[in-house]
Formats: sequence, structure tokens, C-alpha cells
Amino acid sequence: MKRAEIHTKAEKKFTIMLFFGLLVLSATASASSCPIDPTFPSCFKLGASTAAYQIEGAWNVSDKSVSIWDNFTHRVPRVTVDNSTGDIACDSYNLWQRDVEMAAEMGLDYYRFSISWPRLLPKGYDYYVSKDGAEYYNNLINGLLERGIEPVVTLYHWDLPDILQQLGGWTNPLTADWFANYARIVFDLYGDRVKTWITINEPIVVCDAAYAAGYTAPGIKEPYSGVFVCTKNVLLGHAKAWRIYDKEFRHLYEGKVSISNHMIWFEPKTKADEALNELAMQYINGRYAHAIYSEEGGWPSSLEKYMAEYSAKQGYPRSRLPVFTEYEKTLVRGTFDFIAVNYYTTKLIRPAREGEVVSDLFVSGIPDLNAVMESPPTATYGYSTLMSIYPKGLRRILGWLKDTYGDHEMMLTENGFSSSGSELNDQERIDFIRNHLEQLLLAMKVDHVNVSGYTHWSLMDNFEWLDGYTSKFGLYEVNFTDPMRERTPRASANYYSKIIKQRKLDICC
Ligand SMILES: *[C@@H]1O[C@H](CO)[C@@H](O)[C@H](O)[C@H]1NC(C)=O
Ligand SMILES: *[C@@H]1O[C@H](CO)[C@@H](O)[C@H](O)[C@H]1NC(C)=O
Ligand SMILES: *[C@@H]1O[C@H](CO)[C@@H](O)[C@H](O)[C@H]1NC(C)=O
Ligand SMILES: *[C@@H]1O[C@H](CO)[C@@H](O)[C@H](O)[C@H]1NC(C)=O
Ligand SMILES: *[C@@H]1O[C@H](CO)[C@@H](O)[C@H](O)[C@H]1NC(C)=O
Repeated sequence: MKRAEIHTKAEKKFTIMLFFGLLVLSATASASSCPIDPTFPSCFKLGASTAAYQIEGAWNVSDKSVSIWDNFTHRVPRVTVDNSTGDIACDSYNLWQRDVEMAAEMGLDYYRFSISWPRLLPKGYDYYVSKDGAEYYNNLINGLLERGIEPVVTLYHWDLPDILQQLGGWTNPLTADWFANYARIVFDLYGDRVKTWITINEPIVVCDAAYAAGYTAPGIKEPYSGVFVCTKNVLLGHAKAWRIYDKEFRHLYEGKVSISNHMIWFEPKTKADEALNELAMQYINGRYAHAIYSEEGGWPSSLEKYMAEYSAKQGYPRSRLPVFTEYEKTLVRGTFDFIAVNYYTTKLIRPAREGEVVSDLFVSGIPDLNAVMESPPTATYGYSTLMSIYPKGLRRILGWLKDTYGDHEMMLTENGFSSSGSELNDQERIDFIRNHLEQLLLAMKVDHVNVSGYTHWSLMDNFEWLDGYTSKFGLYEVNFTDPMRERTPRASANYYSKIIKQRKLDICC
């Protein structure tokens, strides 16, 4: 764990600096005891995020077609813990002006939202664009710009047109082309006003949570091949969309395009688990990053070798990880203008013990690696016991990305805290934001990671996938029994707003 040691060393250095700082403080009573200057660079941006299916509702209005999430949540018995669906959700299709107002109330630099593919292209393909769908996003983008808020747009936040799922969805290589065609329509419609784009949000959920685990839409469990075919196709879809932007739109609009990966920081449980830890890092993070960000492209070599050997041992005639041709490697390599990261959790990794079965991906560990995930002993928890909270992991994953792929601009596109109650006085969320922003500042100011923005998840409570409406992530509370879906700022919204205004974190004051 060379890198963790490097960071640990840097952290030690801080403690020493802090110690001397305190000495100086007590000597002069004027110098700050702060290990870092808590101000954000002037070009650093703070925003908040949502996703179409989680907030829009209006699942069946106008000519919108059903998405795989509409289909999934409508199944009986229901898949969500509270039997809920996103049919109405926050009703942002009708209440988007209030969403813009909330972003303005907090003074957000930007608002990251996603476009619903089946709302904009009801047929799935690019030969028919919904007038109402196009107008909805047009209004939202203009509304934000009128209030001085930059729109940051995600093209795909898990809501594939169901009609394309009938043809195999992301396990069909043609979906990569259909996605790229959809991307071209969106760039063409909004590229004059939208300068920051995310192609796909958290492909690990699109492929691993969906196909390896069967937890999320389309709910087809095929952990042997489906998940890895999906991984490759998602990378190709992202790359094709980036190349369309690069070739057809960059010279006109000078925007930036990337992909938001959900990154888990892993640490070995014991010294003996370092090799397994490295493999877990590649399995979860490198599998969706290496082909894009590394100089050589393709799969991470340690993972490629492991999967070839492991597949042979399992009796498969070829590796379950599909081959990248040289053409495909070149197509995907370098297709980014910045590195986008969603960070929520850190896990310790160790091999399964004799007789211990690793059955469920994420819940117990990584079945393909026979590896068990544990939460760091000092971690805390919000609503979910799976998402152990460990702010230091944020600094370490950013450092790992820089060490592994080079010194590129990075943007945190998600980070947030879930609670089970609707309380407005959410001190835990405030602490979560402060602790993570502190680690982000350390990454920037001490490790010299070039981070350009922080995006809080989420602007407001919303449909939290399988947790339905039981898990609350919002800076704003939403009353889901109110037909008007009244939104009320929590203490964290006021806190975040203050940080944005001051451009300075409230540590060591
Ligand atoms: C939902 O998905 C199932 C399984 O793929 C499919 O048979 C069904 O037609 C879909 N329903 C709708 C309304 O699209
Ligand atoms: C969800 O619906 C099932 C019947 O389909 C019922 O047994 C269960 O109690 C319901 N759960 C909740 C939380 O309403
Ligand atoms: C749309 O769905 C709602 C339920 O969310 C239902 O009440 C309404 O009748 C549906 N409208 C159409 C046009 O199917
Ligand atoms: C960070 O990246 C941006 C975009 O590439 C660049 O303009 C800026 O100079 C970089 N900042 C540092 C400190 O390297
Ligand atoms: C939520 O809305 C309902 C219906 O308007 C109302 O009766 C209830 O008091 C509201 N709840 C809160 C906490 O404001």
C-alpha cells in the first residue's frame, strides 16, 4: 500500500505542522492554527445534483416512453422497500421553477441534473425528438442561466428507454451507438449553453448493480458474462459520445465532457492483503477508468490477467472479461476533458475465510475475488449501513487517481449524506459536508490535486432507487404527501449557502 503510506506520511506532516502551528499561535497569539488555508481558489465551484428519474415524475406525460426504471418499479411485487415508484417523485417536471429558485437561494455556482433519454427521444433512436421533452430541458437550462447558475448536464443517469432494453440494453454493443446518437441530439440542442457534460453516471451501477447483482433495473442477474459485456459497451458508448463532441461541437462551444465514476477507496485489512487490495481497486475502480484515463488504454493489466486465469479455473473457454481490440482501445483511450468522481464510501478488504461465502456484490464483498468488504472501524453511518462514512478516503482516492493517471483536472460530481428522518435540523449532514470539504482542500492544497468543483448530492430529497422515499439525501426537505411537493431548506442548505458565499470552509476559525 505504497500510496496510502505516502498519504499517511503527508497526514503526519500535518499533525506536526499543526503542532508547530499551535506553538507559534501560543507564542504570537496572532497566527492561525489551521493546517491549511481554508479558502477555496477563486475558480473553484460549488454545486448540487439530482437525476431525472429521481425527481421529474411525469412518467407518462405527453409522448414520453417508459424507461427501464418505470418498468422496474411498476413490477409486482414492488422492488422498492416502501412499494413506491418515481411516477410523481418531486414532480420537477412541473415544479422546475422552484428547483431553480432553490439553487438560487443557496447561491449554487452550478446545478447538475440529468436528461431523461425516453423523455427526449421516446423511440430511443434519434429519428424522432419529443417537442415537449426538448422544451422542458430548454426551459430548465434557460431558467438556471437567467439566475446566474451554470447547468451541468448528465446524459444518462440509469433510465434507458425500455424499448432498447427489449433489444438487450447495455449488453447489446449497438446501444453504444444509439447512446452516441442521443448524445449528438443533446449537444446540438443545448451545447450553446451547457459547457460541462457527463456522459454516463456511475457505470458500476449500470452494469454491476444491475447485471452482476440484479439489484437495479433492468434487474437481470447475469454475473458471468453480462456484467462485463455491459462494462465494455458502456465504455464504448461514453467514448463515442465524447468523440462526437470533440469532432462536431468542441470548436463551436468549447465545453468539457467526462464520465462520472462511483469510486470506492479500499484499504487492506492487514499487510498480507495488499495484493488483493490492489486487485479490488482495479476491479471496482480501474475497470471503469483505466481504458479512458491510462496511457496504454484497455483493461487494467492485473485485472485482465486475473480474470483470464480465474475464468479458466471456472471452466470457461475464454476470459469473462471481453477482449478490447486495438481499434477499440484507441477509440476509448483519452476520451475525457477532466476526471469526474462520485465518492461516498471506503472499505477494508480481506480474503474470505475458510467456509465463508461471498455471495452478494457490495453487500458482502466482491464474489469474483473471493474478497470480503468491511467498514473501517472508525467509520460512521447515515441511513445506510453499507455506505460507511470515511472522509479521509476522499483525499486518498483523489491522490490515487493523480498517482495512477496523471495530473488532470478533477471534479467531484457527487458526495452526500443519507438520513432516515425528515428533520430540518440536520447537524450530521453539516458535519459530513465540512469533513469532506476539509479532505478535499487537503487534497488540493497539500497533495496538489487539481480539483475544480464539489457537487453535493442532493439538492433535495428524492426517489432514492430501491430505498424509495425512506432515504433522505436532500439539502432541502420535500413533503411527499403534499400534492405541491413543498420544499423546505434544512440547516445544511443554509450552511452550504454560507460556505459558498464566504468561499471559505469553517474549520479552525
Ligand atoms: C418490462 O420489462 C419486461 C421484461 O423485459 C417486458 O417483458 C415488458 O414488456 C416491459 N414492460 C413494459 C411496459 O415495457
Ligand atoms: C408492499 O406491498 C406488499 C404487497 O405487494 C405488502 O405485503 C407490503 O406490506 C407492502 N409494504 C409496504 C411498506 O407498504
Ligand atoms: C399517468 O400515470 C398516473 C399515475 O401516476 C395515472 O393516474 C394517469 O392516469 C396516467 N396518465 C395517462 C395518460 O396514462
Ligand atoms: C487545473 O486544470 C485546469 C484545466 O485544465 C487548468 O486550467 C489549471 O491551470 C489547472 N490548475 C493547476 C493548479 O494546475
Ligand atoms: C405535508 O403536506 C401535507 C399535505 O399538504 C400536510 O398535511 C402536512 O402537514 C405536511 N407536512 C409537513 C411536515 O409540513
